[in-house]
Amino acid sequence: MLVYLNGDWIPAEEARVSVFDRGFTFGDGVYEVIPVYGHRPFRLNAHLQRLRQSMTAVGMSDKKLAVDWDTVTTRLADSLSSGDGTVYLQISRGAAPRQHGFPANAPMTVLAYARPAAIETVKGPLREATAILRDDIRWTRCDIKTTSLIANVLLVQEALQAGADEALLVRDGYVNEGAVSNVFIVRDGRLITAPPNHLILGGITRDVIIELAHAIGIPVIEIAPRRAELLEADEVLITSSGREVTAVTRVDGAPVGTGRPGPVFQRLHAAFQTFKEEVRTGARTT
Ligand code: PDD
Repeated sequence: MLVYLNGDWIPAEEARVSVFDRGFTFGDGVYEVIPVYGHRPFRLNAHLQRLRQSMTAVGMSDKKLAVDWDTVTTRLADSLSSGDGTVYLQISRGAAPRQHGFPANAPMTVLAYARPAAIETVKGPLREATAILRDDIRWTRCDIKTTSLIANVLLVQEALQAGADEALLVRDGYVNEGAVSNVFIVRDGRLITAPPNHLILGGITRDVIIELAHAIGIPVIEIAPRRAELLEADEVLITSSGREVTAVTRVDGAPVGTGRPGPVFQRLHAAFQTFKEEVRTGARTT
């Protein structure tokens, strides 16, 4: 497997990063995960725009980087043998003697690689998941896609230890998103989800689902649901580049609605699959 590291294409086993890299010592970096269908990166422009926003938000200038992201991502997408998978891009603030303030002259470290999709995702995405509710212990700049993910890591681990797949995060009584996904609830046929602000990562899959909902006549309300509303919802859905759109059928062990993927999920899932196939065959470019 070839990875892209600081301008070079090298076998992953030979790729080396300094032990003083701030991505390693401080989690001082930003990243993107871009789905690939049929060798075609999904919503590439939106992902690259979010990457630039993350860089700007943490004071990294993309003008100092001479990376042609389109070419790097396309080459990685081409390399996927099944054609499906994800491309991972990461930029850290570079290697420098450890002190918190920004280093004066450290070149940023740029890493990119592709990962094939798991067989189950190629055959059909993970359609059902279970979740737990937890306090959102993260900081308040969740809109930045940063590699400082310790809180998310701990929350996902808690979910796994509880036999669940995802942690849905509650802050001041509202469910804003999950540890690795955006969250929607369905009430009376309407989709309800937190607005895009500093308390959530503005998910690209979230945007696609909102567009598809509008296209098939499902109303969308962008107001964060309360914890109690989520527990009484007809359906709960999560979205992410890895899970696409997935029905959450149990929360904290209790069934959501009927405990089966519901009708709104079924419609959105079908619409997403059609959309994806159009991307895969090149009938659609975004
Ligand atoms: N994460 N919110 C959080 C906290 C996330 O980590 C993610 C995805 C999302 C969904 O964003 P998108 O639809 O653009 O993937 C929302 C990725 C996949 C990850 O960290 O691996």
